[in-house]
Amino acid sequence: MSCSQPIKQALLVACTLLPAFTQAQAVSKDLHSYAQLDQVSTSHLHLAVTVDFQRSQVHGSARYDLLRHGEATEIHLDSRELSISKAEIAVKGDWQETTFQLAEAHPALGQKLTVQIGDKADQIRIHYASAPSASGLQWLTPEQTAGKKQPFMFSQSQAIHARSWIPIQDTPALRLTYSAEVTTMPGLLVVMSADNPLGDERPGRYQFSMPQAIPPYLIAIAAGDLAIKEINPQVAIFAEQYIVDAAAWEFADTPRMIAITEQMYGAYLWDRYDLLVLPPSFPFGGMENPRLSFITPTVVSGDRSLINLIAHELAHSWSGNLVTNASWRDLWINEGFTSYVENRIMEALFGEQRAQMELALGYDDLLADLQRLPEGDQIMHIELGQRDPDDAFSQVPYVKGQLFLLYLEQQVGRDNFDKFLRQYFADFAFKSIDTATLKEYLQSQLLAKYPSAVTVAKINEWLHQPGLPADAPQPRSDAFVKVEQQTQRWLKGGQLQTASWTTHEWLHFINSLPLDISAVNMARLDREFNLTDSQNSEIAHAWLKLAITKKYEPARDRLRSYLLNIGRNKLVSPLYRELARTPDNLAWARSVYQQAKAGYHPLTQSVAEALLYPVPSTNEDY
Ligand code: BES
Ligand code: ZN
Repeated sequence: MSCSQPIKQALLVACTLLPAFTQAQAVSKDLHSYAQLDQVSTSHLHLAVTVDFQRSQVHGSARYDLLRHGEATEIHLDSRELSISKAEIAVKGDWQETTFQLAEAHPALGQKLTVQIGDKADQIRIHYASAPSASGLQWLTPEQTAGKKQPFMFSQSQAIHARSWIPIQDTPALRLTYSAEVTTMPGLLVVMSADNPLGDERPGRYQFSMPQAIPPYLIAIAAGDLAIKEINPQVAIFAEQYIVDAAAWEFADTPRMIAITEQMYGAYLWDRYDLLVLPPSFPFGGMENPRLSFITPTVVSGDRSLINLIAHELAHSWSGNLVTNASWRDLWINEGFTSYVENRIMEALFGEQRAQMELALGYDDLLADLQRLPEGDQIMHIELGQRDPDDAFSQVPYVKGQLFLLYLEQQVGRDNFDKFLRQYFADFAFKSIDTATLKEYLQSQLLAKYPSAVTVAKINEWLHQPGLPADAPQPRSDAFVKVEQQTQRWLKGGQLQTASWTTHEWLHFINSLPLDISAVNMARLDREFNLTDSQNSEIAHAWLKLAITKKYEPARDRLRSYLLNIGRNKLVSPLYRELARTPDNLAWARSVYQQAKAGYHPLTQSVAEALLYPVPSTNEDY
């Protein structure tokens, strides 16, 4: 039986029984992990840990089942700032202590942990504690939550932060199943990227199981004062009480999104699909942790205008979580395919006009990134070396990847491309692949069938050259053309007709205002449309960024409270970047940052600090 077996239950069984590590020998080495999967790999993790709010630590043990592929008598795990107290090995359940060494810390990769396993051990167990400064965890005090009564913690393992809270072979070339027993303060709920408790009890002790093999970056945990609201029998919202009803309303289309994606690309293979709405310091818009996407509260806007984020995280249940990039230099295999599928979901459910506006907004963001990025970082199959993947994050893997797939779709026709994609998800389900594998697959499954449609040279240009090919799609939105016409009339003193504008039109309007817009016109806009006080986080962001550039002082207080209350990297970093351009604003931004810092996630802290306190020799680009 193969992993492309179409029947859900059969597939689950087949993929659980197959050795988790099957294909990593075939792909190039992941330079961001010390793991040597060709020697020994871990097929199952059992975590027995305490989420300790007193010490801001996860501590306990990680036990692994081992699969041997070579002669090695030691295993290399990844770790970052972990305290390791003991290592043990077992042969058929007979445990004994063993030796281990922690190497010097590498600035991006952390510390290699070497454990002696002899030639017979079939399990290992590491006893450890994470550091309060773990890069993959954020600990919030009760005062930093909405409810103010209980603390909150959550993980963000992608790309290479799982190693900061679990000693692990932290490479997406590996897949493993996991189980966990987690203890925390009674009264708090713990959830993971696994089977979650849906009841009312909060005993402080929970057990989890994730029977499908996943890459380590998808292991996730959160603990807090969480309420649960079911949207339908498959989908529920986990969130602090204050937002659970609003989120259930905002994301009510999720079941329809699942249904349409299954129709287009095959069955949803992960059982439940729940959403965890995090505190506003969550550093991303969303994170596709299997069975439980982590979601920023900043998309709960009250008008369902930002729910492409849900389409995006759901789409990862096919692209990314089923078919996974084997290393971080191929992030585009995760994010490009996901952005394409996201837009197809939005088009199928909400029509072409909305999908086209979202595509055009993404395209503008990509063009802005291509302007600022060095040529090497404009390449999809990027040469990362051992650079921290967080430092190379940009719109390139997302939107350039998406445009590549859109280009292929346009060349071979949508029906043909849909068939190809459906087969791709089936053929590579539960596998990790690299660009070379994908290229071969494209050649045999697409180019060979439609030889006159696309050339190999063109595919190479997309994957290995900076910028965009001359014949790349250039998404345009008719609705945005109308916005631009209105802008021209308004600049000459006319009235804006905004009654029918959606968030997307507002974003395009603000982003395309001429940079020499007068102070009088800024004030006029604000008076009429209250942009400074917009409760839509994206509109407020676009307006505040323009306000900094234009030195529009009435927005200053709102800018301060925005930076103090939101920690999503994409929303705050561009504001700090803009503020850092003048000495006065930089001094002001530093003082706001010092106040905001304690509430920010480690990732947002490090990006903001690179912008506000640049060290000449480091890479400051994101
Ligand atoms: N998986 C990503 C977030 C991520 C990428 C974390 C790389 C760490 C390293 C997630 O699916 C994502 O892309 N989120 C976007 C959503 C947006 C494109 C709709 C975000 O957070 O903005
Ligand atoms: Zn994504």
